[in-house]
Amino acid sequence: MAENPTVKLGVLISGTGSNLQAIIDAILRGDLKAEIRLVISNRADAPGLERARRHGIETGVIEHRQFPSREDFDHAVLAALRARSVELVALAGFMRLLSPVMLDAFPGSIMNIHNSLLPSFPGIHGPKDAIDYGVKIAGCTVFFVTPGVDVGPVIVQAAVPVMPGDDEQSLAARILQQEHRIFPHAISLFQQGRLEIHGRQVIIKGDSSTTQSSSPLVNPAVIDPKS
Ligand code: GRF
Repeated sequence: MAENPTVKLGVLISGTGSNLQAIIDAILRGDLKAEIRLVISNRADAPGLERARRHGIETGVIEHRQFPSREDFDHAVLAALRARSVELVALAGFMRLLSPVMLDAFPGSIMNIHNSLLPSFPGIHGPKDAIDYGVKIAGCTVFFVTPGVDVGPVIVQAAVPVMPGDDEQSLAARILQQEHRIFPHAISLFQQGRLEIHGRQVIIKGDSSTTQSSSPLVNPAVIDPKS
């Protein structure tokens, strides 16, 4: 896909909307060439709606409970996004599975963020599952949405250490800081036309970050006895 001067975004939320805020902030800083055409929440009480309104972004509430089926709900969401010429859909803490109605309408153009290093710990308790399993490194993943739960091709991941004494909250907070960095980054790569999906692989064209990304995260750190 070619570079798009400004990608038209639709953001779907269900809750706090801190990832939505990170996208808004990246746009305001000039780091992300995007325009949020619409924020949709499936919950009328989602605090993220207020974040959008504060920035003069149009919001809509489409409550899934009002619809007899997942498909009917998706048709309503799709109509709202289409009416605003949305090109990329960002799921920012959106707690509903999408049906083929949405997936087929936006092929390779729906991104989600998840608070684990997929394919480990899919589902709604990523940080808790990481703590319970005892992993030393956790993180977050931005991926293209495909049918299934948290299974689509991976675009960007960030890793963080699990520290002694961490609980679900402290680990989730550490991960969330990285979510706020990688979600706008992934959207920016899309806007620049640099993402190509080949099966499970997302090829990032013109990636010059290999050198800076190649330092390993080892936790607990290996202390070199000679140093
Ligand atoms: C994030 O941790 C995201 O990974 C998960 O839900 C949380 C949403 O947070 N899917 P927010 O609403 O963006 O603050």
